[in-house]
Amino acid sequence: MDKQKQIVMSGIRPTGFLHLGNYFGALRNYVRMQEEYTCYFMVADLHSLTTHPDTRELKENVNRVLAENIACGLDPEKVALYCQSHVPETAELYLYLNMLAYKGELEKTVTFKDKARLHPENVNAGLLTYPVLQTADIILHRAALVPVGKDQEQHLEMARNFVQRFNHRYGEIFPEPHAFNYGSELVKVPSLDGAGKMSKSENNLATLYLSDDDELIRKKVMKAKTDAGPTTPHSVKPDYIENIFQLMRLVSDQAVVESYETAFNNCTIRYGDLKKQLAEDMIRFISPIREKAEGIRNNAVYLRQVMEAGAEKARASARATMTKVRSAMGLNYY
Ligand code: TYM
Repeated sequence: MDKQKQIVMSGIRPTGFLHLGNYFGALRNYVRMQEEYTCYFMVADLHSLTTHPDTRELKENVNRVLAENIACGLDPEKVALYCQSHVPETAELYLYLNMLAYKGELEKTVTFKDKARLHPENVNAGLLTYPVLQTADIILHRAALVPVGKDQEQHLEMARNFVQRFNHRYGEIFPEPHAFNYGSELVKVPSLDGAGKMSKSENNLATLYLSDDDELIRKKVMKAKTDAGPTTPHSVKPDYIENIFQLMRLVSDQAVVESYETAFNNCTIRYGDLKKQLAEDMIRFISPIREKAEGIRNNAVYLRQVMEAGAEKARASARATMTKVRSAMGLNYY
């Protein structure tokens, strides 16, 4: 298939500061894909309402996510960079897809169960149907490739199920969307405390944000859990040490990683040195993004232009799809 014709779609919720997980799971792929595919990337403000109903900081958060997307290398001229709520066709497709999604499967979704456990006072219908809205986002542009991190794998599986049901019932309108990562496996960037993945709001000190200043990065990395070091050559790394190595593989030169691997294997490694090296390499990686994002964030006029132009491109594509959808569903009466 002609690569130019393949369509890419993905999104990020404006629920907090973007971090290294968002970069390596999603943004790094976006930046490469913009050169090869037709791309739609958005700020998922509607999804954020499922867990963050207070909208006082929403505008600022949306602007920050947009600025960080651009600072990471997205070019708004090459892609459609837009805000989810600016494409009302999303809501219409979400409605139709809801009739094809079953309560039982939605209740079994891991992200739903996690969020319901964390906030039992706010288990709303939007939370339950979150994967349906995500499917609408993707197939509204008839996208086949969805660059995301490992945590989104199940949502993509569900999207394929909804698409199969739609196509089976109403005709082959949509391609089946697949999670995508350059290389091979989907990425899961671990948190610095050795427990789980980095996330926007869970543990501020265990997450490296793209907005962290140099001192804060040093402080966070130096606090990462280690131990007295291995005593048997070529032993298996404990999870929290493997995590540090994994972070190092993302930002450090290969030769540097290899020298620490060797030191680990022959039991001469000094974890203080390992963390100092990681901190400096992180700073080298994060600081240019932080500085660029700060400049863009302060340029409200530019951000508005980006949002408007992005919405226009996204709506043109959404309108074309919805014409096909209504006709396939028999909702065109004249
Ligand atoms: P969100 O906002 O939680 O995360 C945005 C992107 O960052 C990835 N990610 C990670 N990747 C690797 N390691 C981590 N520690 C890590 N943490 C986050 C996520 O996998 C994601 O790619 N439901 C989506 C937003 C969304 C969407 C869409 C995505 C709405 N509509 C349509 C794709 C297509 C979400 O909550 O992402």
